[in-house]
Amino acid sequence: MTRDWDATTYDRVSGPQVEMARAVLDRLDLRGDETVLDAGCGSGRVTRMLLERCARVIAVDGSESMVEEARAALPADVTVLHQDLQELHLDESVDAAFSNAVFHWVPDHALLFGRIFGVLRPGGRLVAQCGGKGNVERFHAVAREVGAQPPFAQYLEAWEGPWNFADPEDTAMRLEEAGFTHVETWLADRPVVPEFTEDYLRTVCLGNHVDRLPEELRDEYVTAVAERCAQPVELDYVRLNIEATRPA
Ligand SMILES: C[S@@+](CC[C@H](N)C(=O)[O-])C[C@H]1O[C@@H](n2cnc3c(N)ncnc32)[C@H](O)[C@@H]1O
Repeated sequence: MTRDWDATTYDRVSGPQVEMARAVLDRLDLRGDETVLDAGCGSGRVTRMLLERCARVIAVDGSESMVEEARAALPADVTVLHQDLQELHLDESVDAAFSNAVFHWVPDHALLFGRIFGVLRPGGRLVAQCGGKGNVERFHAVAREVGAQPPFAQYLEAWEGPWNFADPEDTAMRLEEAGFTHVETWLADRPVVPEFTEDYLRTVCLGNHVDRLPEELRDEYVTAVAERCAQPVELDYVRLNIEATRPA
């Protein structure tokens, strides 16, 4: 199962994800009567935007706190399930699958795409965006530099992290192997200057780093990374866009 997130802080600081989601939702091109899977719903901010465009949403997330936050934030008729997407199981099929800022947290994309394929009705579309090849490379280099210094080195040095920043070619191949057709995948630069800088870094980009540190070093590490970045802190996001269809 994925790590647990600080859902309350994520809900407050996730303006960048909300902004990025708009174009992805537009590409989903819904009529309004569909049932749609939100794969990795987080605290539910983007799920609410999806809900404005379709009849029903089934939201899934692997973090217990995110699921609790989303259940509290969303209307009661939205089904919010606590599941790892690599083991996704629904009791019904969906007309479309949507995902924003999630797939780079999922280690096995072959499993992931196979599971999403399995819950889509024939003819159903997957439209998603996540971090892709090159995502936050500059920022991670700074986080590594700071992590290689004492007192952080014993916890962070030589740690590779959990991210799966896939490239468009491998992703297209995995989608086709899962059975999808009409596959399109491409990268786009999307630099972001986050509001609430340190809260954002601690909750999103450095969440896994911080999990490895003892409590008393966590704030110190986040501040040290933020201060070592060029100011204002700009995250060199590179997004991997995904479109694919389950054959009718
Ligand atoms: C950056 S948040 C994005 C949330 C939401 N889609 C948004 O755009 O605000 C990433 C989410 O992916 C979820 N996640 C990561 N790996 C997962 C997995 N293997 N299965 C289910 N959810 C996962 C996390 O729990 C987290 O809520």
